[in-house]
Amino acid sequence: MKTNRQLNDATQSVWAGEKEYLVHGATQVPVVLSVAYNYDDIDEWYEVAIGKRKGHIYGRNTNPTVQAFEDKVKALEHADAATSFSTGMAAISNSLLTVLKPGDRVVSIKDTYGGTNKIFSEFLPRLQINVSLVETGNHDEMEKEIAKGCKLVYLETPTNPTVKITDLVRITKAAKTAGALVFVDNTFATPINQNPLTFGVDLVIHSATKFLGGHADALGGVVCGSESLVKEIYHYREINGATMDPMAAYLLLRGMKTLKLRVEKQQENALKVAKYLSTHEKIEQVFYPGLETHKHHDIAKQQMSGFGGMLSFALKGELDAVRQFLPKLEFAHRAANLGAVETTVGPARTTSHVENTEEERAALGIPEGLVRYSAGIEDIDDLISDLKQALAAIDV
Ligand SMILES: Cc1ncc(COP(=O)(O)O)c(C=O)c1O
Repeated sequence: MKTNRQLNDATQSVWAGEKEYLVHGATQVPVVLSVAYNYDDIDEWYEVAIGKRKGHIYGRNTNPTVQAFEDKVKALEHADAATSFSTGMAAISNSLLTVLKPGDRVVSIKDTYGGTNKIFSEFLPRLQINVSLVETGNHDEMEKEIAKGCKLVYLETPTNPTVKITDLVRITKAAKTAGALVFVDNTFATPINQNPLTFGVDLVIHSATKFLGGHADALGGVVCGSESLVKEIYHYREINGATMDPMAAYLLLRGMKTLKLRVEKQQENALKVAKYLSTHEKIEQVFYPGLETHKHHDIAKQQMSGFGGMLSFALKGELDAVRQFLPKLEFAHRAANLGAVETTVGPARTTSHVENTEEERAALGIPEGLVRYSAGIEDIDDLISDLKQALAAIDV
């Protein structure tokens, strides 16, 4: 059989990471719920404990179902190693705290996911870690900030919720010149559309809760990178204890089998929705990297093989219009989630940037009338007619 690296994404989504974990002729990876593992031979036990021999000791460290999930993501991200977490935020915080220490400096963008933004604005400064947040998409300014010296450049592209794009090749080059590490949150793009490690990025981060799982029924996070960096992060996580649950790993693993199919359909729907909304009289502005009007459409085209299932749009009439519009949608959950098979919508003020104040959102360029739209896999004609009737109900 060919190695995983030579297989394409559709095949990897289904097969990668599974075979080693199949037992008793089963065709599906089992959910191993056991917290600990029995060893009659204490020398063997010791060798497993110190990593000299394959095996498992205790569930906070490793678990077979969780490892199968990590192996699948690792193959899809073309990585040498991967480790997982209880949530996407645990992946982000544990990775940051592994590499940063007091006195370090981080350069990032203003538009990271609200939770990540809170780490930068609230938690890292408490540890005497300095964070410079640059206008997202202003590559000149970012290069200047990086050149001043930093330990880490942290990116998210496309961003949540305004889908802004950062040039990964350009910024990674600047970071390498400055001797900095580069971490990229690849949640919105998914490994189907973008593999940051192939551009020289050091660590790729996912909230697996979103597109990887795709069914809004399991929380998880995962990071991929070199053996040495992932080993350090794994060590921090095993002690810190933000471990992925085996049942969540099973659900995510099962969801990932259809990752390519889902993402292709979601982005086909997202583009059609974005085009439809762009011409609608009640819409102020549409944000989608697949639209030629998007500020960095060209960069997105270069570094992504598809534009993803996420878009956002500002309604004329601001919050009052949102209040009238959202309840009318028949085929959409109004919920603080994204990447699921069902279309899911919500204002930034109750989803991605619920942690921020209205003033902070305004400073981030997020209008109160902004609606985040995660396209599902429904029939596009039904989604468009649903939007049409809900927009017709706005009378502000
Ligand atoms: C881009 C991005 N990164 C990270 C997270 C955090 O993931 P989780 O909710 O799994 O902790 C989210 C959550 O919405 C997200 O949208």
